[in-house]
Amino acid sequence: MNKKPFVIFGLVLVLLVVVIPFWAFHRDGDVADNEGVPPENTPGKQLFQTNCGNCHTLYAAGTDGDYGPNLDQKLSPAGAPTDKTAIEGIKTQVMTALEEGADSPDVPGRMPAGIVTGTVAEEIANFVAHYAGEG
Ligand code: HEC
Repeated sequence: MNKKPFVIFGLVLVLLVVVIPFWAFHRDGDVADNEGVPPENTPGKQLFQTNCGNCHTLYAAGTDGDYGPNLDQKLSPAGAPTDKTAIEGIKTQVMTALEEGADSPDVPGRMPAGIVTGTVAEEIANFVAHYAGEG
């Protein structure tokens, strides 16, 4: 008997059952998008408190640092963002600040680049992007 159809069927099965779900699951990286998640349930909140809270006030994280700018006012003065474009915009601004540091001429003090990097930076930026302006 010819086994070829079974081999092909087996391969298709592996593709459907293993490869596609794996791809779908990992497509967005391992960082949750926080959609509909209360701030206290996101890993970003604690990471923010630990790494950013000494210098920055952010209502959603309950921090009141005042060395750097108040991030509610700085990033989303009109209240927490509601659409994806605004959220992505804030996330990019935070990632840029973390990657490049910040040293505006009109702001006292500066923020060094690379306080956090990689997944930790992404989690924090994700958290900030969803909840900045909530206070
Ligand atoms: C040592 C204090 C300090 C720490 C810790 C710190 N920052 Fe800052 N941050 C600053 C200062 C000071 C500024 C203002 C710099 C400037 O604009 O000249 C700033 C600016 C920013 C800005 C505004 C950048 C812009 O677009 O102008 C963002 C966003 C930011 N910080 C996010 C964070 C996040 C997120 C963390 C935690 C990972 C963090 N910061 C940790 C001091 C700090």
